[in-house]
Amino acid sequence: MKVNNKAIKIAVSNQKGGVGKTTTVLNLGAALAVNNRRVLLVDCDPQHHLSNWLDWEADGKPTTSDIIFSTVTKQNVDFKNCIRPCEKEKFDFIPSINLLAGMLGIIAADDNSSTVISRIFENDYFNENYDYIIFDCQTALDLLVTNVLNACDKLLIPVQADLLSYEGVEQMLDSFMRIKKDTDIRKYLLGMLVTMYQTNTRHSATIYNALKESYNDLVFNTYISYRTETKNSVGFHRSSVSDCKSVVGAQYIEAAHRIMEESENA
Ligand SMILES: Nc1ncnc2c1ncn2[C@@H]1O[C@H](COP(=O)(O)OP(=O)(O)OP(=O)(O)O)[C@@H](O)[C@H]1O
Ligand SMILES: [Mg+2]
Repeated sequence: MKVNNKAIKIAVSNQKGGVGKTTTVLNLGAALAVNNRRVLLVDCDPQHHLSNWLDWEADGKPTTSDIIFSTVTKQNVDFKNCIRPCEKEKFDFIPSINLLAGMLGIIAADDNSSTVISRIFENDYFNENYDYIIFDCQTALDLLVTNVLNACDKLLIPVQADLLSYEGVEQMLDSFMRIKKDTDIRKYLLGMLVTMYQTNTRHSATIYNALKESYNDLVFNTYISYRTETKNSVGFHRSSVSDCKSVVGAQYIEAAHRIMEESENA
């Protein structure tokens, strides 16, 4: 049964690198799937870390770049053929390859260059088959990320529990809202999720509290702890959610509950 008439599209983005974007996409996807939501993850990063994490290897079928190219050049796309099921995590994904970096010029040549990704994912195929579509973005705020932000109903910002990440938040929110002009931030921003929280120092708590003080309920109550098991989970090609003993897995499941409460039938 579908929880909403349309798939809820979430961009996971932060202009800073290495803050836990891909980890968040993977684990939230797994957490929503555990809750019987039908989930599609879309790798929109030319570095394709999400695809690597899922142990995907080139299979001759279309990737994100091919879908973008076909859309701009007005060719038909067989969406079903672009989807790979991930049996272990019970979600689907569309992989990316480094050729995606070269798609910026193709997107820029489109008459309506900021809506290429929107046009792809407003297709009935996606709305009929998924409850959630989550996009993994690269670090730069370029035309590709602008496209993803425009295509999405919601934005989730992972913020690493360190001072440099904290100091960049205000400027980053300004940049996002400049792209999504005329959008109510409280409706668009699903929240900021504090990641890599270290309980053995005071530093993480200071950053978390400062964020809460400035942005209140725009910050998830749940934070994601720094755990070696999560760092190593890349090598095992699994989410932390799939490990029932994982603290980080349980935290992502808690974060997914807030997302389901806030975004379904809103
Ligand atoms: N909760 C965590 N505990 C321990 N390590 C983590 C945690 N979350 C992420 N990491 C590790 O931190 C590094 C960066 O995480 P990730 O790749 O998710 O960030 P990113 O924002 O997607 O990076 P990029 O900007 O390169 O795309 C990775 O090595 C990842 O395994
Ligand atoms: Mg990443």
